[in-house]
Amino acid sequence: MKELIRRLCNVYGPCGQEEAVRRLISQEISGLVDEVRVDALGNLIALKRGTGNGSAPAARVMIAAHMDEIGVMVSHVDAKGFLRFTNVGGVLPYTLFGSRLLFANGSQGTFGMDGKPLATEKPEMAKMFVDVGATSASDAPVGVGDVGVFRSEFADLGKRILAPSLDNRIGCAILIQTLRELTSSPNDIYAVFTVQEEVGLRGAGTAAFGVEPDVALALDVTLTGDMPEAHTMEVALGKGPAVKVLDRRMIAHPGVRRWLVNTAQAFDIPYQLEVLEYGSTDAAAMQLSRAGVPAGALSIPSRYIHTPVQMVDYDDVQNTVRLLVNALSGPVDVGG
Ligand code: CO
Ligand code: ZN
Repeated sequence: MKELIRRLCNVYGPCGQEEAVRRLISQEISGLVDEVRVDALGNLIALKRGTGNGSAPAARVMIAAHMDEIGVMVSHVDAKGFLRFTNVGGVLPYTLFGSRLLFANGSQGTFGMDGKPLATEKPEMAKMFVDVGATSASDAPVGVGDVGVFRSEFADLGKRILAPSLDNRIGCAILIQTLRELTSSPNDIYAVFTVQEEVGLRGAGTAAFGVEPDVALALDVTLTGDMPEAHTMEVALGKGPAVKVLDRRMIAHPGVRRWLVNTAQAFDIPYQLEVLEYGSTDAAAMQLSRAGVPAGALSIPSRYIHTPVQMVDYDDVQNTVRLLVNALSGPVDVGG
């Protein structure tokens, strides 16, 4: 599975340009699902048909993992070939210096800042520029509207993995691996690889409207509180998948929460409860689809989210797959 993670983290796929990620995932899941379609926004919607539960029809369970990653979009090229830019998704200005940008056409670049920046200064994006090695506007290899993403080498640190865009290629990898390991299910499983999550959960909204799920679950990363003098938060690396209770845009459906917690306890899988004070996931958009959908999320604890190099624990990754496979292997019960 590490090889799959490495390949997913390397693919170029900023919000709105998820084609290459979608192509790779389509190849990986062909043969594992019964139907695949792509909707108007670019969501990849795969269905693995369930057997039904006795006389009851199969429940429709939608699992969403977003394919897109954050980046920066060129907004202006000056006479010397320096590029001004705007953020696509939640980019943190102080993480830009020293990072490597990759564009769709393979061009690379890094960041600089106007004037003589002091080490103590809080960088402002409006004062920063991208240097792609151009000497004039006419020889700049990229132009207005092109998007760069952050790239570095995948590294297997043993227990932990260091890679760019683990938010949320790790969720995509877990969903693919779950399809590989799920031999049979009473439920119709809609594995949905969504677009444009980082600019406001946009793809998940239309995908959920189309799928009309009975239950929805997002797979995404979450912050941790386990670093020196970190913001107080219960979640830590290596202590298992985090079952979402609350984030800024959603209160998880109590039945969905119970379903996940009961599964973890029944199969002796470590888990944590997640109360996230920043950000949200595709679950928030799915929950508000049509007349409302019981929704929750399984989060992969992650350090350095939205920076060019991110970290997850490999045991957490494997335990998330185990929890998901076991939860989906039986009938889904989110009532009571
Ligand atoms: Co994100
Ligand atoms: Zn994410």
